[in-house]
Amino acid sequence: MKAIILSGGKGTRLRPLTYTGAKQLVPVANKPILWYGIEDLVAAGIIDIGIIISPETGPEVQAKTGNGEQFGANISYILQEEPAGLAHAVKVAQPFLKDSPFIMYLGDNLVQSDLSIFLNEFKSQQLDALTLLCSVPNPTAFGVAKVDEKGRVLQLVEKPKKPPSNLALVGVYLFNRTVHEAIANIQPSARGELEITDAIQYLIDQQRKVEARQIQGWWLDTGKKDDLLEANRVILDTCLTASTYGDVDNQSQVIGRVQIGQNTRVINSTIRGPVVIGENCHIENCFIGPYSSIADGATLINADLEHSVLLQGATVTGVHQRIVDSLIGQRAHIKAAPRRPKALRFMIGDDSQIELT
Ligand code: TTP
Repeated sequence: MKAIILSGGKGTRLRPLTYTGAKQLVPVANKPILWYGIEDLVAAGIIDIGIIISPETGPEVQAKTGNGEQFGANISYILQEEPAGLAHAVKVAQPFLKDSPFIMYLGDNLVQSDLSIFLNEFKSQQLDALTLLCSVPNPTAFGVAKVDEKGRVLQLVEKPKKPPSNLALVGVYLFNRTVHEAIANIQPSARGELEITDAIQYLIDQQRKVEARQIQGWWLDTGKKDDLLEANRVILDTCLTASTYGDVDNQSQVIGRVQIGQNTRVINSTIRGPVVIGENCHIENCFIGPYSSIADGATLINADLEHSVLLQGATVTGVHQRIVDSLIGQRAHIKAAPRRPKALRFMIGDDSQIELT
């Protein structure tokens, strides 16, 4: 069994962050989204992993993630010249996959589920394809499956106006080699992409064994800012353990589950968990509220923040109104004057400079 993780694409919904970086490397609880997928696959015993990359962000993904040694995996990189669809990515990966069955994992998805359960079912039932589903309140925004009582997939519909169920397709699929034949027989959709849903529909129409299973845990698609903040909240809520490697002075208060990285200094501040703070940060005269993730090298002085994500090297100084629900890009600077409005809500891209006067 092999796996491919799709880490190409355009990432238009997460602009401006994705003008300068790969959306799969945006951190959730200070760890790149992509790495959660790698860890899930390795935990299920799949170590032969191909990562699909784009010409624009591929080098960054490759430099950060490496050859897989740190995960106990063998990672190969597969270049997809154009983001021509999920099925197109499988096509490009065919020389890597050969005739092997495989898991396809979308690199911007987070799934709380033990993949080995689905892997075992896929093998023991000798399925051609197995899709994972999650019950959602707004199925019109997703690919939706119509499934019979035995779990057989009858139909897939992309963003349906009248959804046949509330079961959305999670970004994890298991296939055997028949999917390559399906992909060779489909045409690009109206938006010009080779759609994986069309390939699966082809398998269904060919009477292949296509089934679906509902996951019991959560599923988060981190494509947009609010989804990303929600993913950050869920991960901090469920996975964070407290630890302090940095320096916290005795004027400061650290309450609840808080992680503080090496060489980080916390001076005269209150930190109320769950919060994760990376290495080499400077936090002074601040309140850092629940569900905040602060990446390495960030500086916060005279600032008040909660339910927000700060990327590497971001700086916030003199902002006394609480910053909430915000995503602040790498090396962005926010600096405020003493008089200002009551509330601030940001989505700020890498290298931005913002002064509130
Ligand atoms: P999407 O989120 O569907 O597409 P996108 O990344 O282009 O994002 P947006 O809608 O914001 O423009 O892609 C799901 C995952 O698959 C994501 O990690 C990117 C990846 N992908 C590829 O690797 N190749 C592709 O051709 C496409 C369409 C996506």
